[in-house]
Amino acid sequence: MSKPYDYENVLINIDKGIAWVSLNRPDKRNAMSPALNHDMVEVLSRLETDADVGVVVLGGEGKGWTAGMDLSLFFRDLDDKPVERAVAHRETNQWRWNHLYTFSKPTIAMVHGFCFGGGFTQLIACDFAIAAEDAVFGLSEVNWGIIPAGIVSKALMDCIPYRDALDLCLTGRTFDGKEADRMRLITRAVPADALRAETEKLARSLLKLNPEALRGTKQALKVSRGMSYDQAGDYLAAKFAEQKFRDVEGGYAKGISQFIDEKSYRPAFEAYSR
Ligand code: ACO
Repeated sequence: MSKPYDYENVLINIDKGIAWVSLNRPDKRNAMSPALNHDMVEVLSRLETDADVGVVVLGGEGKGWTAGMDLSLFFRDLDDKPVERAVAHRETNQWRWNHLYTFSKPTIAMVHGFCFGGGFTQLIACDFAIAAEDAVFGLSEVNWGIIPAGIVSKALMDCIPYRDALDLCLTGRTFDGKEADRMRLITRAVPADALRAETEKLARSLLKLNPEALRGTKQALKVSRGMSYDQAGDYLAAKFAEQKFRDVEGGYAKGISQFIDEKSYRPAFEAYSR
């Protein structure tokens, strides 16, 4: 019997392959405290190797997705505690970027209510972001006199156009899910009452696909991004071989055989039968 997922600041519900992970500080609008970040480091480490989990959905309890970093517990309380501050900074980047950006299974940010400041890190780190059309986003750092640090500025510039990034960070203005969709900060905006169903539909469609192909594809896209064409060609050839080698379900052979020999599906429109 494996250890239950029992955390003070995060709720986890695993349902037929989907891990529904929810930041759980609704009274503080899911502001990220050092304790929450610590919980998330452990939760993601466990989910990565949990055989019952194929997709991770990141949500939030209560009125909004997250109000960003906790201004009291993450900032002011740590100002004169350099050791605790160093640990807190390491853990906050660890789960929101090191773990999520490179997570070996697909990840979906499911955004309702609002997403501010530091919340943009995990928003961008997730492979998909589905948001309610009426969700409110804001790079509000400038409103209280700081810069978008952590790695928000860098991640934002890798995600959305330069003009939009400058506009949002220098004015601190809020914008809704539809505008986030327009600038490709998110995968798509959906009506608020369809958010959960649309997210689940996407997650279930991913669960039908070959997990090693998904893992390899994520790595291929993210790692080759910073390479030259020569390096990328060589890396992707090696990755292609590695993915076939790792794939215990033999997807490559099955996929070809079901199309060429059995004529049971058309890869242009659907996946082979696993
Ligand atoms: N840090 C610490 N506490 C917070 C935060 C936060 N980021 N956001 C909300 N809270 C707390 C409030 O202090 C309040 O606590 P209290 O009940 O002890 O008084 C509680 O959560 C509820 O907050 P309200 O403001 O009363 O809730 P409301 O629903 O009216 O507004 C909103 C929500 C819009 C999110 C507002 O709280 C807010 O502006 N929060 C700050 C958002 C922000 O700018 N985040 C970026 C921080 S910078 C960064 O992440 C790097």
